[in-house]
Amino acid sequence: MKTSHVWAVCVTALLCLHLGTTVTDGAEGVRFDYTNGPNGPANWGNFPGWETCKTGRMQSPMLITPDIMVTDKKLDAKLGTNYPKCPIPANISNNGHTIEVAVSGLELKINKVKYYSRQMHVHYPSEHTILGYTFPLELHLVHVEPATGKIAVIGWLFTLGADSPFLAQFFDNLPTYTPGSEETFPIDPIKFLLSTKGTYGRYMGSLTTPPCSEGVTWTLMLWDFPTVSTNQLNLLKAALPEANARPTQPANGRKLRIST
Ligand SMILES: *[C@@H]1O[C@H](CO)[C@@H](O)[C@H](O)[C@H]1NC(C)=O
Ligand SMILES: [Zn+2]
Repeated sequence: MKTSHVWAVCVTALLCLHLGTTVTDGAEGVRFDYTNGPNGPANWGNFPGWETCKTGRMQSPMLITPDIMVTDKKLDAKLGTNYPKCPIPANISNNGHTIEVAVSGLELKINKVKYYSRQMHVHYPSEHTILGYTFPLELHLVHVEPATGKIAVIGWLFTLGADSPFLAQFFDNLPTYTPGSEETFPIDPIKFLLSTKGTYGRYMGSLTTPPCSEGVTWTLMLWDFPTVSTNQLNLLKAALPEANARPTQPANGRKLRIST
């Protein structure tokens, strides 16, 4: 098959699976933020509709310490992703909380359940901390099971180093945030995704932004951390009003199960 043909097949398949994007803003027009002020993480749970941020017992991100890490042979050795090899159409937007890249149709299978990607977005610094280490950047690829709306997220933690070729696909032209008139526009198709090979950790958690809904299946890639450069971090910092990492939440007996 010619490249253009493969490309056309992929576009068709992806459009059929298009599910729309999720919105992270909510409760009666309140805009959450990451400050120590009234709309910051410590107070998200005080707003109607966002109570789970305060009362939830399975919240994310998690502080990952040695005592909660357990290997689990029952986890599939290989993550069940079925990501196309062809360029993936994508739209980008800046909602003032994060840069979001809408990507449809990437398939992730967990325990025979198929989830499909909606969007990916970034946090700086990382939301999850591992063995006391906060990473400069964390990327979340959000998938949804169409029938139930259940969410599964893959998280990649970046260390400081060389430019990320993956981020470079959309980082050089980050949209700015204009309050009240959020724009979404197409960008060049994403040619390749971050690796889903190697060891990963799994736990049940929540959205890390209001309404902090639980029942989210988290997968954290723990092998071969990708790098991000200072220059790329600066581009992100220039595009967002503030750092956007929710503080870590108590494990409450949860374990991070690690594939072997
Ligand atoms: C990008 O936006 C266009 C126009 O709204 C839409 O038709 C398309 O499905 C979107 N693509 C993705 C991957 O979200
Ligand atoms: Zn996130």
